[in-house]
Amino acid sequence: MTLIDGNLISNQIKEEVKEKVSQLVQAGHKQPHLAAILVGNDGASQTYVGHKVKSCEQVGFKSTLIRCEDTITENELIQQIHQLNNNPYIDGFIVQLPLPKHIDADKILLEIDASKDVDGFHPINFGRMCLNLPAYIPATPMGIMTLIERYKIETAGKHCVVIGRSNIVGRPMSVLMSRSGIDCTVTLCHSRTKNLKEECLRADIIIAALGKPQFVTKDMVKPGAVIIDVGITRLEDASKKSGYRIVGDVDFEGVKDQCSFITPVPGGVGPMTVVSLLLNTLQASQKLIYNN
Ligand code: GUN
Repeated sequence: MTLIDGNLISNQIKEEVKEKVSQLVQAGHKQPHLAAILVGNDGASQTYVGHKVKSCEQVGFKSTLIRCEDTITENELIQQIHQLNNNPYIDGFIVQLPLPKHIDADKILLEIDASKDVDGFHPINFGRMCLNLPAYIPATPMGIMTLIERYKIETAGKHCVVIGRSNIVGRPMSVLMSRSGIDCTVTLCHSRTKNLKEECLRADIIIAALGKPQFVTKDMVKPGAVIIDVGITRLEDASKKSGYRIVGDVDFEGVKDQCSFITPVPGGVGPMTVVSLLLNTLQASQKLIYNN
């Protein structure tokens, strides 16, 4: 079994991005600049956004964090977005999800200028991705594709089972894995799928993105399968200083000897999400996808 080391690959990519930024700045370009809007005080979201800001610093990007009370109205949030859309110093920005219940996330994401939508959540980017046109690719799926590429995991003609149909991970993942050049046959499973265990047992590659801790167990995995674990659930754990531990959607200990490759949690897919966002922002700053 090979452990897929997301920390190692993400650090390599950060070094590559840092080098590119320094070349751009030496050639007279400004530093790439990412902004993030964080609404409310959700602990996990604060941690993720904190990682994004810190990573910007590490590679020489500028970053701006805009924090809003969770009582912010939809219209006020839309105004913030319009300001970022119109701010020529901001190359790209994200609105950290989830948003409070009184805010319609779909409506909010529509307000982001597609050319600054470095999360790739706007329907324009999502549609362009589906059509193989230049687009920002959502960060977590993009990070997984990078891991598959850098670990030279065979995909052509393989059967990939994606568990979970979220707009952020499962659905875009199913699109990317079936693309020409990757060439998997993809089954997208979800909460209404019948015989999920049998579907998983047919998989050469399982991408678990359903958000249920330790859901994928040894009896669901074909010997030699590749396991990509996207889950990040915080479970209470009094023995930890933080009071919790992070658990994936896969029963890692049970599955690890059954598979050919596996991503750990933490240290697998998670760090790749952040570097993908950096790569999208680097593209935005060079206007490589949209040239306006
Ligand atoms: N919440 C969970 N994952 C993500 C992500 O990739 N981007 C944003 N904006 N919010 C998230």
